[in-house]
Amino acid sequence: MINTMPNRTSSVALVRVNPVCTLALLIIFNGLSGCMSPLCPEVAHNKPILIQLDAAAKTVDSSETIKVELDGVYKIQKRYRGMALAHYLSKCGIIPEQAASDTWIQFICNDGYSPVEPLGSLIQNAAFIATADLDASPGEAWVPFSYGNSQRRPGPYYLVWPYIERTLNSHSCPYGIVVLYVGRNDVLMGAELPKLQKFQRDFALFRSNCMMCHSVNGVGGTLGVDLNLPRNVFEYWQADKLNAYVAHPESFRRNGKMPSFAHLRHDDISEILNYVKHMKAHKLEPSDAKR
Ligand code: HEC
Repeated sequence: MINTMPNRTSSVALVRVNPVCTLALLIIFNGLSGCMSPLCPEVAHNKPILIQLDAAAKTVDSSETIKVELDGVYKIQKRYRGMALAHYLSKCGIIPEQAASDTWIQFICNDGYSPVEPLGSLIQNAAFIATADLDASPGEAWVPFSYGNSQRRPGPYYLVWPYIERTLNSHSCPYGIVVLYVGRNDVLMGAELPKLQKFQRDFALFRSNCMMCHSVNGVGGTLGVDLNLPRNVFEYWQADKLNAYVAHPESFRRNGKMPSFAHLRHDDISEILNYVKHMKAHKLEPSDAKR
């Protein structure tokens, strides 16, 4: 899977951030009937839980420190201050151990990058919300890194995976996180889900490789375009060119922001495209395509 760093485009703030860790709506968690937190959300069964992070309000406390073996952004060993994701979720009334096994989290970043990760994998791998870099210069919270011609900082909230070494391509490392959506697969992916079982695997490949930048029916990242609305890409691209485009976008467009997927098998790209094509017959009206 494509990781955050070399592939993200320039920054546009998309989501406004509110003061507190606000839980808007509750999905059904196994064994959790209602919310136990003082920040108790309104209950609904058809919406993901929305958690808004706000730097000013310091919703994530920074009392824990952690060492990351191979950092997704800096590609070296790093040390951060922040809070384990599991602790933060508990603080927000979500008990990871009690969540359904198909619970996922979508991380919405301030530039529109929005990867999803299974809650189980996040917790098992001790995912951590970094709020400050312990290697930063005095008076600074973060060490800048180069991104194209610009310098960026991963704060105020950056998701790191302490124990994962040399497998960065299998995990996203979202930075500039402003919102978390927590929900079971069907609730979180909603209108983006394929309508037929046989496209499930194709969709899973799309979810782990493309959804962080592209939405389908309005669900997904906003760094890239929606691939189904208002027109599905199969309605205006030559179908036999799309596989080559996804593998090597730079051979079609100069100065594009779409990363190359030459590391994926040709058949995997075809499967992803089968899913995208399938969704052509299942469009949402654009006005309904907002979560
Ligand atoms: C890091 C963000 C990012 C990821 C990940 C990404 N794309 Fe893109 N994609 C873009 C951007 C940005 C564009 C717009 C063209 C450009 O700037 O290169 C684009 C363009 C496209 C287009 C052409 C759309 C059009 O209207 O012409 C297709 C098709 C596409 N992407 C498919 C995919 C597929 C399939 C995947 C997963 C295998 C994927 N993209 C992953 C960012 C991304």
